Amino acid sequence: MTNIQQAAIEALPRRTAPAVDVRDLSKEFRRRDRKLGRFAHRKRVALDGVSFTMQRGETVAILGQNGSGKSTLVRLLSTLLLPDGGSAEIFGHDVVRDARAVRRLVNRVSVEASFFKKMSSSENLGYASRYYGMTSRQTRDLIPQILGRVGFPPDRRDEPMESLSRGMQQKVALARALLTSPVVLLLDEPTTGLDPRSKLEVQEFIREIRSSHDSTILLCTHDLAEAETLAERVGILDRGQLLAVEPADALRRRFGATTLEEAFFAATGRAFEADDEEDDEDREVFA
Ligand SMILES: Nc1ncnc2c1ncn2[C@@H]1O[C@H](COP(=O)(O)OP(=O)(O)OP(=O)(O)O)[C@@H](O)[C@H]1O
Ligand SMILES: [Mg+2]
Repeated sequence: MTNIQQAAIEALPRRTAPAVDVRDLSKEFRRRDRKLGRFAHRKRVALDGVSFTMQRGETVAILGQNGSGKSTLVRLLSTLLLPDGGSAEIFGHDVVRDARAVRRLVNRVSVEASFFKKMSSSENLGYASRYYGMTSRQTRDLIPQILGRVGFPPDRRDEPMESLSRGMQQKVALARALLTSPVVLLLDEPTTGLDPRSKLEVQEFIREIRSSHDSTILLCTHDLAEAETLAERVGILDRGQLLAVEPADALRRRFGATTLEEAFFAATGRAFEADDEEDDEDREVFA
């Protein structure tokens, strides 16, 4: 464990608290509905009484169709959104009341990571490390080292982010998340949209974080194989409800299925690939 992780853990009031403790968490959004009138709104439940816990060092994958609430869950846990009901704690810190402490412990990597596009990968990581209060002495060796670990080619470190492929950008996003040695890593579809090779590389890297860091990883994914190979337990999120969180084997057994896809179908009554999302034009905020 690194010093930063150690310091973060030692600052915790309840050392025996689970890494993630989510109880009856709910969130709904108001969406404009032109069909009902010019100023009419409609409620859309994004999370509906979600409860689960994660032990330190555990990796849990959450499977869900488009619009099932995966990103909402990740945003709530990373303090980017406020819940409407229920609670969520990270190592005993409440995401609403102790948001500052939570931010020190979690790091989120989302599908569309945001960067300063004209700046290079090294500059972006340098900027992020300053934001986290690290000195340039601390990061001089660390940044090239972390970029090396995610398999980022050394000769492209000075290229602006905008000229890099999505796969490369995603590696930089993971490298950035590792800068602060997050105790809880929230990965929101880290491999969606990547070419097969980059996908395997990123998955391999997640596997490496699992074994070499003392991180707890929540992995939201559209990829059944990814969920099964990377996580100890797999959760099925369906229209905001978490139907089960169990090891893949147990899920298959429970639903009398031979594949995870069949188990998903048996649990939700819907095919995994079928798209459940309405068009997203009416979203009011983007977080
Ligand atoms: N900011 C917002 N404003 C309005 N509605 C929202 C907002 N964010 C999410 N929603 C709605 O909440 C529901 C859950 O969305 P969320 O993005 O969490 O799903 P998801 O599982 O991450 O989907 P995807 O697989 O497409 O990323 C959807 O119906 C979505 O349209
Ligand atoms: Mg999402």
